[in-house]
Amino acid sequence: PEPGWTDTVDVVVIGSGIAGLTAALKARELGSVLVVTKDVVASGSTQWAQGGIAAALSPEDSPEDHLQDTLVAGAGLCNPDAVRALVTEGPDAVRDLIDLGTRFDTVDGDLSLTREGGHHRNRIAHAGGDATGAEIERALVAAVKRAPDIRLIEHALVIDLLTAEDGAVAGVTLHVMGEGQLDGVGAIRSRAVILASGGIGQLYAATTNPSVSTGDGMALALRAGAKVRDLEFVQFHPTVLWLGKSAKGQQPLVSEAVRGEGAFLVDHEGTRFMLGQHELADLAPRDIVAKAIMRQMLATGKDHVYLDARHFGDEKWRVRFPTILASCRSHGIDPVRELIPVAPACHYSSGGVWTDLHGQTSIPGLFACGEVACTGVHGANRLASNSLLEGLVFAGRIAAHLANGLPELREPAHDVRVPGLVDADVVPELQRVMTVGAGVIRSATGLSEAGAALGKLIEQPAGEPGTPGWEATNLVTVASALIAAATAREESRGSHWREDHPDRDDAQWSGNLDLTLPADGD
Ligand code: SIN
Repeated sequence: PEPGWTDTVDVVVIGSGIAGLTAALKARELGSVLVVTKDVVASGSTQWAQGGIAAALSPEDSPEDHLQDTLVAGAGLCNPDAVRALVTEGPDAVRDLIDLGTRFDTVDGDLSLTREGGHHRNRIAHAGGDATGAEIERALVAAVKRAPDIRLIEHALVIDLLTAEDGAVAGVTLHVMGEGQLDGVGAIRSRAVILASGGIGQLYAATTNPSVSTGDGMALALRAGAKVRDLEFVQFHPTVLWLGKSAKGQQPLVSEAVRGEGAFLVDHEGTRFMLGQHELADLAPRDIVAKAIMRQMLATGKDHVYLDARHFGDEKWRVRFPTILASCRSHGIDPVRELIPVAPACHYSSGGVWTDLHGQTSIPGLFACGEVACTGVHGANRLASNSLLEGLVFAGRIAAHLANGLPELREPAHDVRVPGLVDADVVPELQRVMTVGAGVIRSATGLSEAGAALGKLIEQPAGEPGTPGWEATNLVTVASALIAAATAREESRGSHWREDHPDRDDAQWSGNLDLTLPADGD
């Protein structure tokens, strides 16, 4: 479709989780800001975050200790400068969230801090027990609503970037689904675009991510020729409530904080299989726990293991983990009396659109923060609860950088183009193919079969313009890039596990893997 309208703002923010809303709140000082979000404002992953947000906030902790834990979890691929920015600016960024109105849990007036996998200190602030993301999102949405100068368009999918003759950003093309003057496909011209569109969980059959996590930002950046990095490092959360083989789509998370408070994993015989595997046992970094669970499942032929938190008792479950208690009970499991069946499911993309320390991508005027970005803080495996912090800190860094001067408004070099669309009906098969061939355990053969199956899927008749077709197209774009990255890295490291190359190979693979697609129309 041709664009039906054009509008102009200074800064477009794509996405409305912690990264997008923080960027909008900070960038409003600099010019006119438009936030566009594909669904309603709180429908992204932030809302679902349970465990919390990590920062060195206790007197017994330090940014240096947080840095060390982050680097160890990242298995040699973090950018230490980016991690240093994260951990040193993190505590103040969390205090700013409190000033904004976020109500974190406290004990005797001090923040209540817990532990999660890979952390050697108690440094995870939480809210509502296990509803941290929902509380942060509530506070951010309230702050955005109090800022009448921030325009927000819900039910609006950004399709592609507009670029100028010199390759710099000139705006975005947008499909607005709701009723109103901007309905249909149109163009927003802008001086800067901040991508904060979240993750890619819907590439896989089972994920903790909501249905909106279809890699839209990563796909549009790829189509525009932006550099992406570390795409092979897809994190599978070790403890996702196991609801049977046929469970598909978003699955209930059982936060690492449950293990942080003393729960432990057991096999079908009741044996604690994490003991002796790592000095932190059940609180080892996430990739190690997920792999141990997968090994256990493969060795026993079972499709799940169990989490034992019966010793918490009724009161602790009700006060500390009300969300998880309710979600277990709604599925007929009473964690006060029963073991919780769990298995790994897709949780987080540690890689994404490459940025420098100011969130600048390889395309001038295009910035990225939050899960869509690869700022270098996660390396091969994100440390638990560093993701909300990353969104917060790097959104602030982008705004601070833009305060030095917004780029000039540029003329789009070409007409709005809409990508050839994939049929939305292929998505369940794409998710199956990715789960089997590019999931927790990978091999050259499995990845090549996944690539071939993907090629067949896109031979199907073209899809209709509209959100399902664009989402399917974005999923296919990201899936192809992810398969290419996972095929190239012939070693096992962090959350990338190749059964045909089972060891970490520092001699050949100590660097990050970058990928760029030819820009659309080149
Ligand atoms: C959790 O609560 O276990 C999730 C924390 C995270 O993904 O960082």
